[in-house]
Amino acid sequence: MNEISELRERYLVLIDSAETDSALEEVRISALGKKGEIALKMRDLGAMDIEQRKVQGPILNSLKEEIISLIKNRKNQLEDKLINQRIKSEWLDLSRSPRLSNEGSLHPVSQVTEEVIAIFSSLGFEVADGPQIESDYYNFDALNIPPEHPARQEFDTFYVHNDDGSTLNVLRTHTSPVQIRYMEHAGGPCRIIAPGRVFRSDYDQTHTPMFHQVEGLAIDRDISMANLKWVLEEFCRAFFELETVQLRFRSSHFPFTEPSAEVDIRCSWVDNQLKIGEGDDWMEILGSGMVHPKVLKAVGVDSEKYQGFAFGVGIDRIAMLKYGIPDLRSFFDSDLRWLKHFGFSRNDYPALHSGLSKF
Ligand code: PHE
Repeated sequence: MNEISELRERYLVLIDSAETDSALEEVRISALGKKGEIALKMRDLGAMDIEQRKVQGPILNSLKEEIISLIKNRKNQLEDKLINQRIKSEWLDLSRSPRLSNEGSLHPVSQVTEEVIAIFSSLGFEVADGPQIESDYYNFDALNIPPEHPARQEFDTFYVHNDDGSTLNVLRTHTSPVQIRYMEHAGGPCRIIAPGRVFRSDYDQTHTPMFHQVEGLAIDRDISMANLKWVLEEFCRAFFELETVQLRFRSSHFPFTEPSAEVDIRCSWVDNQLKIGEGDDWMEILGSGMVHPKVLKAVGVDSEKYQGFAFGVGIDRIAMLKYGIPDLRSFFDSDLRWLKHFGFSRNDYPALHSGLSKF
C-alpha cells in the first residue's frame, strides 16, 4: 500500500470513529489544516518534477475532496444521532393524565372588594382611587382636622418624611382623603366609592397596621340622612344576602361629618358562631354622616347649594363577618392553608364593574 492510500485508510477510520463535533473538527484540522497531513503533502508537490506532479497532484486533490465530503457526511450523521437521542429522551407520554396545576385563589379582601364594587355600581356609584402615601393636608386639614385637633392623635398615624425632612407625608389613615381629591376635581354633584388600603399603628385580633376601607360619598342638592340610611340598608341586604337587615344609627363624632353616626348591624352569637341579620346583639360596621360644610368649602363646593353623605366601611371587617373569619391578622400572614380555606375561586368573582378614576 502506498503512502497515500495508507493516509486515506487512516482518515476513513478516524472520521468514522469521531463521536462528537469537536472530535471531528480535530480530525479535519489534522488532515486539512494549515499544517495538516494533506496540506503538507500538497506542499511537497512543489519539490517534485513535472511528471511526478501530474500524477500525484490529482490523486492528492481527489483525496482532499473525498475527505471533505466524508467529514461533511459524518457531521450530518452526528447531528441526526443527536436529534434522535433528544427525541428519545424528551418523549411525552400523551396517555398519562395531566398533573393538576396548583391554581391560586382569590384573597377574601379581593373578593369582598369586588362584591362591594358590584353592589355600589348597581346603585349608580362610580369607583375612585387615590394615593396611599398622602399629604397631611388631604388626610387631615381638608377634612376639618387641623394640626391641634385631638382626632389626629386618635388615628395612630404612620408619618413619612422626605429625605430633606421638608414636607411631611402620612400613610393615609382612612380613605376619606379620596373624597377631597374627587370633589376638588369634579365638584358636586357626585356619587363615588373609593376602596383601598389604609394604615394605622395598631395590632391585635381585630386590628392590623394595614387594612382596607371603602369610602362612600354622595353629593347633590337635597341628599339627606334618609338617603344614607337607604343606601346602607340596600348595601347590607345585598352584601350579606339577607331579605331584611336592621341597622342602628348611633350618634357619634367625626370632624368631617355633621351630624355623624356609627352604624351597627343586628346580629347574634349562637354557639360562638356569629349570625348577621337577626338576634339581640349589634356589631359596628361603619362610620358615616353628612359631609361637614367646612369640608365642602375646602374643595370649593358651595355648601348653600349642595350637601350630601359620606361613609367609611372596613372591608376586612365585613369580610370577617360575612365569611366567618375569626382573626384579622390571619388575612395578611400569607399562610397557604388559610388562603386555600378562605380563598375564592375565580368563578366566584362578581362581574367586573365599570372603570376606575384616579385622583
Ligand atoms: N374615615 C372614618 C374612619 O376611618 C370613617 C368615616 C368616613 C366616617 C366617612 C364618616 C364619614 O374612621
